[in-house]
Amino acid sequence: MKDTVDSYVTADGRTIGGVMMEMKNITLRFGGVVAIKDISFDIREGEIRAIIGPNGAGKSSMLNVISGFYHPQEGEVWFRGQRRPSMRPYQVARLGIARTFQNIALFEGMSVLDNIMTGRLTQMKSNIIQQAIWWGAAEKEETANRERVERIIDFLEIQAIRKTPVGRLPYGLKKRVELGRALAAEPKLLLLDEPMAGMNVEEKEDMSRYILDVNDEFGTTVALIEHDMGVVMDLSDRVVVMDYGKKIGDGTPDEVRNNQDVIDAYLGVSHD
Ligand SMILES: Nc1ncnc2c1ncn2[C@@H]1O[C@H](COP(=O)(O)OP(=O)(O)OP(=O)(O)O)[C@@H](O)[C@H]1O
Ligand SMILES: [Mg+2]
Repeated sequence: MKDTVDSYVTADGRTIGGVMMEMKNITLRFGGVVAIKDISFDIREGEIRAIIGPNGAGKSSMLNVISGFYHPQEGEVWFRGQRRPSMRPYQVARLGIARTFQNIALFEGMSVLDNIMTGRLTQMKSNIIQQAIWWGAAEKEETANRERVERIIDFLEIQAIRKTPVGRLPYGLKKRVELGRALAAEPKLLLLDEPMAGMNVEEKEDMSRYILDVNDEFGTTVALIEHDMGVVMDLSDRVVVMDYGKKIGDGTPDEVRNNQDVIDAYLGVSHD
């Protein structure tokens, strides 16, 4: 039913709007390997959408298609009512789509503050020449960038480590900094590839809360890959289930939990 209405209000009072992103019949191959086989699904404005599935199912590949990192051989990607042409990742970023990686991709030698600042790069309008001849605008932009980054640092409660080189931080905090860098781009759609992998229970709870708060307070739409079923069921409005490159389930957490194909795919498969 939720697929046919324009918008609806969740049990916790958030409004989910119409379709933001639509993947139509996506097929992605690497040589002989078919990582994604004819998959269609959508992401609605304001929702938290999970992509789950066993190892090698094609989840990261799907996120990489959304972010413009991989280009599918077949299918169409639609964003806010328009077919998106084949784009480079930086062009996709300008549409308001930001991501984190399955393996942390931060600058280890740089401070937390500077790492988050790099997330502003896609937003910066003035180039070096403009900065040289019209420093006023560049300076204003720099101030706005700083303010945004400071807000994120407050929001993620990482004031105490703002000057610390990222390489010295424990894993859970690195993941939080990576989230901060993605947020610095002020995304409309935030893509998170296993934001809680390798975390302990407490760290997972913290990360879950930040994701919920980002969604609620900034109105950011979220698509995330996660193996921890408890987290997925608690966080997400709808879930896509992949297995061997195919879509085997799509619906609310309750719907996919009771889907026999999904249950079968998970039997005997270990995840952590
Ligand atoms: N760049 C690539 N070159 C070749 N094969 C790839 C590439 N990226 C992914 N694959 C293959 O595509 C398939 C899907 O991989 P993908 O990383 O998308 O799975 P996943 O669901 O994210 O798995 P995991 O849970 O282990 O992260 C796998 O068979 C993988 O080996
Ligand atoms: Mg993956």
